[in-house]
Amino acid sequence: MGHDILVMEGDGIGAEIVTEARKVLETINDIDNLGLNFEQGMLGGNAYDKYGHPYPEETRRQAAAADAILFGSVGGPKWDGKTDRHLRPEQGLLDIRADLDLFANLRPAITFPQLVDASPLKPELVAGLDILIVRELTGGIYFGEPRGIRIREDGEREGFNTDIYSESEIRRIAHVAFAAANKRQGKLCSVDKANVLEVMVLWREIVDEVAKEYPDVTLQHMYVDNAAMQLVINPKQFDVIVTGNLFGDILSDEASMLTGSIGMLPSASLNKNNLGFYEPVHGSAPDIAGLNIANPLATIMSGAMMLRYSLAQGTAADKIEQAVGNVLDQGLRTQDLMSPGMTRVSCSQMGDAVAQSLRDN
Ligand code: IPM
Ligand code: MG
Repeated sequence: MGHDILVMEGDGIGAEIVTEARKVLETINDIDNLGLNFEQGMLGGNAYDKYGHPYPEETRRQAAAADAILFGSVGGPKWDGKTDRHLRPEQGLLDIRADLDLFANLRPAITFPQLVDASPLKPELVAGLDILIVRELTGGIYFGEPRGIRIREDGEREGFNTDIYSESEIRRIAHVAFAAANKRQGKLCSVDKANVLEVMVLWREIVDEVAKEYPDVTLQHMYVDNAAMQLVINPKQFDVIVTGNLFGDILSDEASMLTGSIGMLPSASLNKNNLGFYEPVHGSAPDIAGLNIANPLATIMSGAMMLRYSLAQGTAADKIEQAVGNVLDQGLRTQDLMSPGMTRVSCSQMGDAVAQSLRDN
C-alpha cells in the first residue's frame, strides 16, 4: 500500500527548500521502502499566475485525494497589493487550511545542542529547550466575520475584524494540546488575553473544563503579553503552549529564535482525521529566493513530521531528525546559522548532506 503525497513548492524560496525536503523523503523512501508516491501541485502566487486563483480547483481536487501534503511558502512583492484581497497568495494558504479543516497546528521549537550558540539568547537559556506550540489554525480573528474596510458616515474609512471562537472550536484544540502534554512532560500553558477580551474569557473557561479530563496534566493560564516576555526570560519553563490563531502566529515566530533561526521550525497542521499539511513556519523570504542560500532544514523536518503524524512511519521520521543532527555535528551550516569555525553550505548542499547521512547510517 502506497502513500500519495501532494508536494507544493509555493512562492519565493519554496521551490528550493521543498526540492531538498523531497530529496530527503525520496532517499528514506528508497532505503525503507515506504511506498511514497509524489505528485506536484500549486498553491499561492504561482497558482494565481497560472489559474487565476491562489487555491485553484485543480489543487483542491489533488489535496482531497492526497494522504498528506508537503508545502513550501507563499507570497512575495510580485503580488503585494496587485491582486484583489481574496486572490492574494496568503489567502490560498488560509483557504486550504479552512477547506481541509486543519485546525490543529503543531509547531515544535527544539534547540539542537549544536546550535545553542546560534540563538541570540544566552546558551544557558536555550540549551535543551523543547517546546511544542499548539496553535488553533482555522478560527479566531483570521477567519471571524464581519470583517472589512468601510467608509463611515463622516467619510472616514475604518478597518475591522472579529475575534470569535465557539466552544467546540476551543474544546477540540484544547484536547489536542492536553493529549500532547500527556505524552510529554505533562505541563500545559494556555495563552490568552482574558483580562481584556470576552472571546478569551470563554477560551479560558472551556480550557478549564477540558482540563478535568486530563488529571495528569498541570494547567497554567498566562496572558499573551506576559507569555511573550517569559519566552525570552525563561523559555524552558514551557512544555506545551496552546493558544489561538493570531497569538500562535506571533509566539511561534518568537519561539523560533530560541532555536537559533526561523529556518529551524517545522510544522504540522492536522484535521480530526490526522490528514496533515506540513510546512516550515518561516515565510517565502523573497529577498533570498533563487540564491540557493535558504535553510531547508525546517522543511526537511516538516517531512519527518509528515511521516510521523500522517503516515505512521515514526522510525523513518526519527532517522531524518537524526540525520539533521548528524549534518549539524559535521559543522555544516546555512548562512542563517553560521558561526565561526563552521562550514558554510548552500541550500542544496544541506539537502545533499542530510540525504547522504541517511544513506551512511
Ligand atoms: C504562518 C504564516 C501565515 C499565517 C501567513 C503566511 C498567512 O505567517 O503560517 O505562520 O499568518 O498563518
Ligand atoms: Mg507566521
